Amino acid sequence: MTTFDPSIPSTTESGAPRESDAHSLSVGADGPLLLHDTALVEKLARFDRERVPERNPHAKGSGAFGELEITEDVSQYTRADLFQPGRKTPLLMRFSTVAGELGSPDTWRDVRGFAIKFYTQQGNLDLVGNNTPIFFLRDPMKFPDFIHSQKRLPDSGLRSNTMQWDFWSNSPETAHQVTYLMGDRGLPKTWRHMNGYGSHTYMWVNESGERFWIKYHFHTDQGMEFLSNEEAEKLAGSDSDYHRRDLFDALERGEFPSWTMSVQVIPYAEAKDYRFNIFDLTKTVPHSDYPLIKVGRLTLNKNPQNHYAQVEQAAFSPSNVVPGTGVSPDKMLLARVFSYPDAQRHRIGTNFNQLPVNQPIVPMNSYNKEGFMEFLHSADAPVYAPNSYGRAYQDAQGPVDNGWEADGELVRSAYTLHAEDGDFVQAGILVREVFDDAQRDRFVETVSGSLSTVEEPVLSKALQYWKNVDSVIGERIELAVHTSKGDEQPGGDPLNA
Ligand code: HEM
Repeated sequence: MTTFDPSIPSTTESGAPRESDAHSLSVGADGPLLLHDTALVEKLARFDRERVPERNPHAKGSGAFGELEITEDVSQYTRADLFQPGRKTPLLMRFSTVAGELGSPDTWRDVRGFAIKFYTQQGNLDLVGNNTPIFFLRDPMKFPDFIHSQKRLPDSGLRSNTMQWDFWSNSPETAHQVTYLMGDRGLPKTWRHMNGYGSHTYMWVNESGERFWIKYHFHTDQGMEFLSNEEAEKLAGSDSDYHRRDLFDALERGEFPSWTMSVQVIPYAEAKDYRFNIFDLTKTVPHSDYPLIKVGRLTLNKNPQNHYAQVEQAAFSPSNVVPGTGVSPDKMLLARVFSYPDAQRHRIGTNFNQLPVNQPIVPMNSYNKEGFMEFLHSADAPVYAPNSYGRAYQDAQGPVDNGWEADGELVRSAYTLHAEDGDFVQAGILVREVFDDAQRDRFVETVSGSLSTVEEPVLSKALQYWKNVDSVIGERIELAVHTSKGDEQPGGDPLNA
């Protein structure tokens, strides 16, 4: 196999020595260039093709390698090999912002991606989560519209607060996540100082086939820390790669960040009558109902050697599950299972799973084949199943062990409501009971700051949205917006009171 050797003089891609990395072939020193200068043509043609499309969304990010060590015994809930006591599993993590493009500042207010690829003895398991335990939406049909509203206007190519708030205020299910986003979590100090969540409800299955609904939590051992609006804005201008730099430098210094992994375990049958719909991604499951159960420790300890090959070309997908784990009826999750590998076939190429960073560490035997850049092949083995020539294949029938019962008419519908479901219920609890006074003050400042450039009729809808979350906070936000705009107040001008 061809290898890379930085000590030999440079070569063409076909391995022949190059004459010069500095001078093109020309007719005389001042004359025209020649098409048969393959060294120049190859160099320009490759340069023209250096970029793959950036991720849409989560374009800006970075990552590192590490391991998950299982320190507790959760074998009563899952038979997945990587979660058995004492196991150490190598992994890759990538952190990201959602809305910004590849060169955008790390410290713009946003949700942060928290994606993990575990290279397990049973194939890859990916958890592609965020730094918040919930999301803006509960139906994937709205996801592309949501992302469009966070990116750029069609005419000017500018970002627009009016467009963002228009989508949010017309989609009340976003209230819980927007409350998180406008709170301190929207500006983590570094990636090392934020928690990560699987966000969706997933499934675990134990050795005897018993099923459990699982919520994954990764609590930072560095402690949660945040930036103020002023600090974040300053950093966005002075060091747009602040978070990327922080992680890389910390690992170079030998400071290895870690997270404590826990799960909430909801017995399979309890989901049906629980007070919240656990498959609705806009809801958390209170720890008072289902406490955190510690599983192990995730540590990052190695920087990538090559950002492009190992981070930009990394392909994380919720479709990557291993025996003893599974997805759930969460509609968002089911759509994501399709969307990620589909995006990656386009973004990286059909055979993206064959790249070293995406390959499982265990052997594969897939009948999928060929396409651009096939590297791992099945030699002269039969290319079809079933076959009579010894290439193994599967033909199991019957219920899958990580499945669930489903029945009903084909409908387009919101989820069935559970006793305490409601778009504003948990957002209101977050504002009133989880935030302290100082957090509430910062929250009002951030929301009103963001709304100060929003136009009517969107502004009125957005103000009503916050009154629906909590009447007191809604009125404080309204007052702050009008004050910043210099408007006359219903109860008199507060500036001149
Ligand atoms: C229906 C809903 C969703 C769809 C269709 C969707 C689609 C996508 C797509 C196409 C990408 C780019 C993948 C790539 O090019 O490699 C992506 C990236 C990402 N998404 Fe989603 N997404 C959805 C919801 C979510 C949710 C709910 C979360 C978190 C709980 C999430 C977290 C992420 C993360 C962390 C990345 C970046 C992964 C990386 O670092 O490479 N997404 N999403």
